[in-house]
Amino acid sequence: MRHTPLGGALSSLAAGKDDEARHALSRMKDESVMARALALALSSGSLANAYDAPSAFEAFIRSRGNIALYGAVSSTLARLYDHYRPHRLLDIGTGDGMALLPAIAEATHVPREIDVIEPSEQMFEKLIGSLSVHAGYTQGFEAFAEDLAQKNHWDMAQSSFALQSIPPSARTKALRRLARHVDRLVVIEFDVPDLPLGSRDLHESLATRYECAASEQEENADLVASGFLVPMLLGQLRAATPSNWEQPASAWLDELTSAGFRAVKVEHVHDYSWASAMCLVADA
Ligand SMILES: C[S@@+](CC[C@H](N)C(=O)[O-])C[C@H]1O[C@@H](n2cnc3c(N)ncnc32)[C@H](O)[C@@H]1O
Repeated sequence: MRHTPLGGALSSLAAGKDDEARHALSRMKDESVMARALALALSSGSLANAYDAPSAFEAFIRSRGNIALYGAVSSTLARLYDHYRPHRLLDIGTGDGMALLPAIAEATHVPREIDVIEPSEQMFEKLIGSLSVHAGYTQGFEAFAEDLAQKNHWDMAQSSFALQSIPPSARTKALRRLARHVDRLVVIEFDVPDLPLGSRDLHESLATRYECAASEQEENADLVASGFLVPMLLGQLRAATPSNWEQPASAWLDELTSAGFRAVKVEHVHDYSWASAMCLVADA
């Protein structure tokens, strides 16, 4: 893989060599959105989480490349509602409904009861302004799964780009509990390249993919890079406080299987600058 200055700066950040990273980033500030935003975060000592500033995340998911991605995600979900005809649906990590709301609008079969889990109060409030939910939980999936009662049951659970926010051991534990309460789970996530943690190849791949995502943002580039992409990237690079656990589609398949789901089908949803989005449909 070709070595680039931004990839080198990410390697320095991953190794905790912040001064080295700061110098490298300041030399690229004029040509790289991510270099500018990373330099700013280092100088302010910001420890923000990717969802602390929902305006950045909301601007990001409404940008050009994301409109096509979300169109494909919502159509996939709508097609699955029409095929499986769930009456009770649970959406895990709904955000402000960017995937769920158009899916419901597009489907011929609309689930009768929709329950949502969304830990961000701000996004939850926005969501329930547009959707009449049967039950809403402003907590993480891990805590929700701990409290599941025997009578809780959904025909279908779904999650788009949210399970990657949960550390794998807690996530598998929560999925294992959920498997006893659903007929089917639909997971939409990115099929990210399988590169060794801490390797220069991973840092080059992250540099290319983040810069590509940032430069697609046009007038919102600095807001999105500082408020959403940098916290995500620093979470991925700094092993002490990671905030994102993406993995290849094959690893999602293995994880769902080890959590007790079976007959997992994997289908391609959309080719996106970050990585291809994939849909896994797993029977419990
Ligand atoms: C990338 S967004 C995706 C939102 C929505 N599903 C969509 O496709 O637009 C990730 C979502 O996961 C939520 N989230 C973060 N940690 C979570 C957790 N532990 N349990 C459930 N959701 C979580 C975030 O608040 C955010 O709304």
